[in-house]
Amino acid sequence: MPKKSIAKTNKDDQVIDSMLRPSSWQDYIGQEHIKKGLRVILAAAKKRNESSDHLLFYGQAGLGKTTLANLIAKEMNANLKIASGPTLEKVGDIVATLSNLENGDILFIDEAHRLNRVIEEALYPAMESRKIHIIIGKGPASRTICLDLPPFTLIAATTRPNLLSSPLRSRFGAAFRLDYYEVKDIEIIIKRSAEILGIGIDLGAVSIIANASRFTPRIANRLLKRSRDFAEVNNINMIDSETAYKTLNLLEIDKIGLEIADRQLLEAIIKKFNGGPVGASNLAAAIGEDKEIIEEVFEPYLIRIGMIQRTSSGRVATEKAYKHLRNVKHEV
Ligand code: ADE
Repeated sequence: MPKKSIAKTNKDDQVIDSMLRPSSWQDYIGQEHIKKGLRVILAAAKKRNESSDHLLFYGQAGLGKTTLANLIAKEMNANLKIASGPTLEKVGDIVATLSNLENGDILFIDEAHRLNRVIEEALYPAMESRKIHIIIGKGPASRTICLDLPPFTLIAATTRPNLLSSPLRSRFGAAFRLDYYEVKDIEIIIKRSAEILGIGIDLGAVSIIANASRFTPRIANRLLKRSRDFAEVNNINMIDSETAYKTLNLLEIDKIGLEIADRQLLEAIIKKFNGGPVGASNLAAAIGEDKEIIEEVFEPYLIRIGMIQRTSSGRVATEKAYKHLRNVKHEV
């Protein structure tokens, strides 16, 4: 057995993920336009000794929205309080969350597109004038009391910014879109993560994992962790190209990061719908997937790599998709 590094002793995946999360701006690779914008906003707020304006981050899952919130909290020397759209159900939930805020706190709300209207409406005055309105009692005897909140910053993250109501969207001082990463940046992230995990990796394996990562740090780190598992159980002390390929094979992920479900989706468009165009609902029914998952997870990457196109009448498979599926069959 290879020697165990400290990082490997009984740490579950979540703990490892938090170890891999960048803890400084220097370690946060890519997204240069966002870092540049934030630098100005945060420096100005610090200079004025104020909380920063409310911020909205949007983009695909796993691109580093939560990590940015953590870095901002660190930069502002502030507490980060974390909530998420689906867990804030009733007015009481948001009132409790807001009334627990202390001067300068940062409230991070993940999956903000899943906030219900009641919660969104409670947030408007909180964001705009640091007030919450609480209705006490019911019917004619009810009355509204108004609570003042301390200065705070709301950071919201979402994969679906179009689902936020426009009054909510307009209350953010800045909105930043996280893009997919460049392969060279993903390679830097993989090398850094391997170092933290205490596992050797050669350049061939770094490149294989990066190309299968869907340009997404979270996926790159996940593939690295699985390659490390594979190496460990096979008594291999370094992740090389063969280990990386075998790991992808086990996970049924191809060289460009497509999983079975992605390939089923492409095959459905080609075989069941004659190459398209086909609407998302029909496609969802054909492959037994959730329409939202198709729109949020599969499609953005398939569009990005030019396998499908979205037209006004539906999704169309491109020549590249036909070619890829033929090649994958040959590989298998
Ligand atoms: N993990 C998530 N986002 C990252 C980034 N931008 N750089 C390094 N590691 C990350």
